[in-house]
Amino acid sequence: MTQEHYPFEPYLISVTRPIAITSREEREQTIKECHYNLFKIPSQKVMIDLLTDSGTGAISNKQLAGIILGDESYAGSRSFEKMLAAIEDITGFKYVIPTHQGRGAENVLHSTLIKEGNLIPGNTHFDTTKAHIEFRKGVAVDVTIDEAKDPSLYHPFKGNLDLEKLEKVLKETPKENIPFVLITVTCNSGGGQPVSLDNIKGVKSLCKAYGVKLFFDMARYAENAYYIKTREEKYRNLSIREIIQEMFKDSDGATMSAKKDAIVAMGGFLALRHEELYQRCAVYSILFEGYLTYGGMTGGTMETIAQGLYEGIDYHYLEARIGQVARFSELLKAVGIPIIEPVGGHAVYVNAGKMLPQIPPDQYPAQALGVAAYIEGGIRGVEIGTVLADRDPITRQERHPNLELLRLAIPRRTFTDNHMSYIAQSFKKIHATKEELKGLRITWEAPILRHFTCEFAIVK
Ligand code: F0G
Repeated sequence: MTQEHYPFEPYLISVTRPIAITSREEREQTIKECHYNLFKIPSQKVMIDLLTDSGTGAISNKQLAGIILGDESYAGSRSFEKMLAAIEDITGFKYVIPTHQGRGAENVLHSTLIKEGNLIPGNTHFDTTKAHIEFRKGVAVDVTIDEAKDPSLYHPFKGNLDLEKLEKVLKETPKENIPFVLITVTCNSGGGQPVSLDNIKGVKSLCKAYGVKLFFDMARYAENAYYIKTREEKYRNLSIREIIQEMFKDSDGATMSAKKDAIVAMGGFLALRHEELYQRCAVYSILFEGYLTYGGMTGGTMETIAQGLYEGIDYHYLEARIGQVARFSELLKAVGIPIIEPVGGHAVYVNAGKMLPQIPPDQYPAQALGVAAYIEGGIRGVEIGTVLADRDPITRQERHPNLELLRLAIPRRTFTDNHMSYIAQSFKKIHATKEELKGLRITWEAPILRHFTCEFAIVK
C-alpha cells in the first residue's frame, strides 16, 4: 500500500481549536433570537461552520513561523519581497499590488480600467466583482456555456466560457468599450466549477484577435489546475505548476483573494504583467489600500501568503482537499440529498428547491433548509437563492434565480472526514421529516445586500 493507492492528507494536525457542543433546544432558541438569519448566529453557537471556505482554513507550522518573522516596515518590507517572489515564481506575473483581500484588488483594477457603459464579459462573475463593475456603471456580461445551467448534467468543465457567445460580444462592441475579459477560476457563482485549459486558450486567442485585455480572478486557481490535470486528458502529464504557468501565460494579470487558495485568514493582491498598468493601478492602491509594499496587510500576513501559495499548489494537498469535498458529496447523495453535479472544488451545493417542493421560492426553501441544518446539527451553510438574489433595483420585485441552493463550503485542512459523516447523518435526519419543514417570510430587510441582515419569521 502506498499513498498513491490511498491518498491521504499530507500533514499532521498539531494545534486544535475546540468546538462548543450545543443542544438542539439551545439551537432552537438561538436561531429564533437571530430571526432565522444564519449570519447573525455567534460562531460559538455553531458546531460545523460551512458558511465559507474564505479565510477559514488551517495554517501550517511554517505559515505560523512566518507571522513571527514578518517585517513590519512601512516601506520596502522584506516580507513583501518574499511574497512578490512567490507570486512571480508561480504565476509568471512580475508586478504585484498587495491588497487587504480580493475585493480590494478588484477595486484597484476596476478603478483604473472600467468606465461607465463598459462591458466586461466573463464566466458568471462573483458577487463582489459584479458589484464593483456595476458600481462603475459597467455591465458584467455572463458568457458561460449553457450546460452550466443544468444541475444534473455531467460536464467536466462547467465553468467554461462559450466562445461563440464571447466572440459575438467582442464583434459587436467597440474595442474601447471592453476594458478586459475576465475568467474566474474556479467559477464560484457557477458552483465552484472549473475552466478547461483548452477553453482558456480559446479565450486567449479571441482576446488577441480582438485586441482586448484578459484578466483572471484566481481565488481558486490551484483547485482549477488540479481539475485540468485530472479531467483534461492531454494535460495529465503536466505538473500543477506547469498547468498554472500555461493558464496565466499571455494574459494581462489577475486579482487574488488569498483567503482561498493561498490558505490565509486575510489578504489579497493584484498581479500584473506590464509595468505601465502597474504604474496606473499604483495610484488607486495607495489611495484605497495602503503603501505599495503592504497594501493593508501586516508583514506577517505577507509571509503566510508566500508560504501558503506553495502549500496550496501541492498535488497531494489538492488531492486530499478536493477528494474530501467529493467524498462528502457522495455521503450526501447516499442519504438521498439532491446536489448540483458534478460537485465543485470548494463546496457542495444542495438543491433545496428540489428537496423541499412544498416550499415555494417566495418562501425561501434554501433558507428553510439552512435553518433546519442548524437546528438539527449545529451546521451553518449559506443560502444561494431568492434571498441572495434580492430585489430588482427598479421594479423592487423579488428576483427568483433558476435554482434555490444551500451552499456547504468546506474550509481547507479544517475538518476531518468524521465531521463530514456527521453532517451527512444530520441531513439524513432532516430528509426523513422534510415534509414537515415550513417556509419563511421576511419581516425586515435592508434596501441593498439584504441577505446579511434581514429578519425572517416561520410561515404558519
Ligand atoms: N472572487 C471570488 C471567486 C470569490 O469567491 C471571492 C470571495 C472574491 C472574489 C472576493 O474575495 O472575500 O477576499 O474580498 N468569496 C467568498 C465566498 C466571500 O464565501 O465565496 P474577498
